[in-house]
Amino acid sequence: VALDVDPIATADPAALDAADPLAPFRRRFVIPDPDIVYLDGNSLGRPPLRAIERVARVAAEEWAGELIRGWDHWLEAPRRIGDLLGTGLLGANADEVAICDSTTVNFYRLASAALEARPARRIIVTDRANFPTDRYVLEGLARDRDREIAWLEPDPIDGPTVDDVEAVLRQHPGDVALVTLSHVNYRSAAIADLPAITGLAHASGALVLWDLSHSAGSVPVGLAEHGVDLAVGCTYKYLNGGPGAPAYLYIRSDLQAELRNPIQGWFGQADQFEMGQGFRPTAGIGGWLTGTPGVLGLGAAEEGIRVSVEAGIEAIRAKGVALTEYAIALHDAWLAPLGFTLGSPRECGRRGSHVSVRRADARELTRALIDAGVIPDFRAPDSVRLGLSPLTTSFSDVARGIATLARLAGGRPADG
Ligand SMILES: Cc1ncc(COP(=O)(O)O)c(C=O)c1O
Repeated sequence: VALDVDPIATADPAALDAADPLAPFRRRFVIPDPDIVYLDGNSLGRPPLRAIERVARVAAEEWAGELIRGWDHWLEAPRRIGDLLGTGLLGANADEVAICDSTTVNFYRLASAALEARPARRIIVTDRANFPTDRYVLEGLARDRDREIAWLEPDPIDGPTVDDVEAVLRQHPGDVALVTLSHVNYRSAAIADLPAITGLAHASGALVLWDLSHSAGSVPVGLAEHGVDLAVGCTYKYLNGGPGAPAYLYIRSDLQAELRNPIQGWFGQADQFEMGQGFRPTAGIGGWLTGTPGVLGLGAAEEGIRVSVEAGIEAIRAKGVALTEYAIALHDAWLAPLGFTLGSPRECGRRGSHVSVRRADARELTRALIDAGVIPDFRAPDSVRLGLSPLTTSFSDVARGIATLARLAGGRPADG
């Protein structure tokens, strides 16, 4: 063993688990095969026990029993659960978040509304490392609205910096309509400096739209504190809402009436069941709903969000830092000697709750890992992405997962 090994790497993972205040939360989730090491909770979170029970109850009691009368209370669910998420985990005020549609659709709607609110400005700022759906939606909007994207080309590990944003705003004075970035990068886990970038965008007169898919339920966001205009994200990752769970959107309260919803559906209409002529949006975030929501999915999402609210975002963040620090120490001790490099920021304040490790054969290694009962994600071209979901991932999972990777990558069995 090299002398410069980080002492965390030699810690006993069982002892780390025993000292983990969030360890009991793992029992709130359905884990049918405890031998599988699941390191992809940032793609699809594990199901909370209560979410499974809730879906069964909504189907058997509400759908079957209440029939159409269920809408008396189902109608409120997108706003009720939006408040739970917004005030409980995102630092928003009440009536600023709604659960609805998909992340892609919400992203389109908010980006579109932002462009309409800045008609004389031509430029949309985003980065080449942003999640594909965001980039594709912006490309379509730029084409249809005769706008142009100023692409940031950030460092692939550290993501877009405040300086990158400042430089592009200086290049296009008075011409940037929208700055939109992911808060936590889906590949490297880099955290963008949301407060500073939001401030810079505002100083230039632009609106700002954050994709929170990889930060909601893993790092604090502080939407109200930092004066964020707009945000979207999904509930199926760290929020454990289930496959294809409904997404959310956030609109700061003073912008809700100023911006226009490009999809004027009847669920956003005041006096919805009057079925009257002409669209008149409900005041508040309700004016941003579109059509009939999936009630089974809303029930599961509410239970998923509730588990994270109960655990508390500060405790979740603390464990996310501890898990990723441990994973990086094990990378340095066991994987770096085998030719791996770290694909995530080393500084914990700049890193969300996953860690990417890179080697040219990452695709084959990911397949071999899955065959060996360890489930991470492959991200092209060369990353094995280890998602460490604070409520369900143990330190023992991290140790077993990385030891297995080291063995498959050619390390001696004694190394892990
Ligand atoms: C940053 C980000 N945005 C959006 C999405 C997906 O959007 P949708 O739920 O519409 O498929 C993901 C999914 O992984 C994501 O990581």
